[in-house]
Amino acid sequence: MPYTGPVIKTPPPGPNARRLIERDEKILSGSLTRSAPLVGENAEGMYIEDPDGNVFMDFGSGIAVTALGHRHPAVVEAIKKQLDKLIFVNSLDYYSPPQVDYAEQICARTPGNFAKKIFYTNSGSESVDTAIKLAKAHNRRPYGIGYINGFHGRTMGAISFTTTNVVGRRGFAPMYPIGQFTPYPYCFRCMFNREYPSCGMECMNYMTDIIFKKIIPPDEVSFIILEAVQGSGGYIVPPKEFFTELRKICDKHEIILIVDEVQTGFGRTGKMFACEHFDLEPDVITISKAFAHGLPAGAAISKAEIMDWDPGAHEGTLNGGPVIMEAAKAVLKVLDEEKLVENAAVMGEYMKEQLKNLQKKYSCIGDIRGLGLMVGIEFVEPDGKKPAKELRDNLIQAAFERGLLLLGAGPSSIRLAPPLIVGKKEIDTALNIIEDCLKVL
Ligand SMILES: Cc1ncc(COP(=O)(O)O)c(C=O)c1O
Repeated sequence: MPYTGPVIKTPPPGPNARRLIERDEKILSGSLTRSAPLVGENAEGMYIEDPDGNVFMDFGSGIAVTALGHRHPAVVEAIKKQLDKLIFVNSLDYYSPPQVDYAEQICARTPGNFAKKIFYTNSGSESVDTAIKLAKAHNRRPYGIGYINGFHGRTMGAISFTTTNVVGRRGFAPMYPIGQFTPYPYCFRCMFNREYPSCGMECMNYMTDIIFKKIIPPDEVSFIILEAVQGSGGYIVPPKEFFTELRKICDKHEIILIVDEVQTGFGRTGKMFACEHFDLEPDVITISKAFAHGLPAGAAISKAEIMDWDPGAHEGTLNGGPVIMEAAKAVLKVLDEEKLVENAAVMGEYMKEQLKNLQKKYSCIGDIRGLGLMVGIEFVEPDGKKPAKELRDNLIQAAFERGLLLLGAGPSSIRLAPPLIVGKKEIDTALNIIEDCLKVL
């Protein structure tokens, strides 16, 4: 049955959902955090249904994964077709046509008109760990630089450069042993209390004037890693000039620039990759999430000359399996055929305009920002800019009770990241629900 809008039959979580949650809590790892008590059972397009017959509109896309909407028929068909041919071939030891087909397609689409090579992984974190190892294998330098408020995942390499929250880091030291952190251009809350552009990009100067002069010589820095738009940190978009300068610094000191596009990739920002907004060509790019429509997949793609590590230096048994690769090929085809990247750009602008109107009515909305369908709303206390975390958390819960799935980001922001198939009608429905919630919170 096609879904046409959110439907709440029983206040969620209803009895069936509650039973499942009780079983889950007894057996699944307590390290998992859940944004809302949603139990997903069926899904299609913009919607997910729970076992009590409640239908939720998905404005988080499972953190930017289901870019084509849930269960896009073209991807379902591609997966079924491959299941009938071959499910697994160990890509450590043998060759596989879908891996090569997809590699040719995706490498042609990532920024930079130069020869590239790809290494397939199973997740965003693994893509980041791959990029870190790759940089070190190439230049053999000891240090890495990350950004404050950056999110790169949860494996040991990835958490070493993840600084959104100490919870993910507590108890895990020592991590990547020689990393340094520098401020990201979070202009709404500038660490130096300056305004862009009159600040002269003080955040960039921190790296050149403090880190490079007092802490680490730049010729010992192997790589700099950052997100093109900070995702989990709060949907923070840097000025273009920031990336122009960063590219120059990396070129000058022969530092490998790793750009993490795990969340921003595959059209989410209104361009295939967010780097394109900044005319930025990274040395290494990491991808995952929307890659294969929810199947576990990721990759690190680099300039061909950087991926020069020794045979056996880095491998993985399950990486780039044929079913995943066929799903990923179908994702690219649908993005093109349905012009979803273009739709993300147009709908993102529409959503931001509507949100700016809402901001005029609600002083708790401190900032609206984003690119394409990666839109953040930062909530503040009424008497200033203090982050309104409780209001944000209550909003997520209240929206859930009304059939809208929202995800948080940063201390007091929500991220609006609907599937790229979204239209004005669904955006209006979501923003009406958000306004209904704000009226009572
Ligand atoms: C920018 C970025 N990098 C890496 C990751 C880690 O990806 P995964 O959860 O697949 O390990 C995420 C996940 O949210 C992310 O947003």
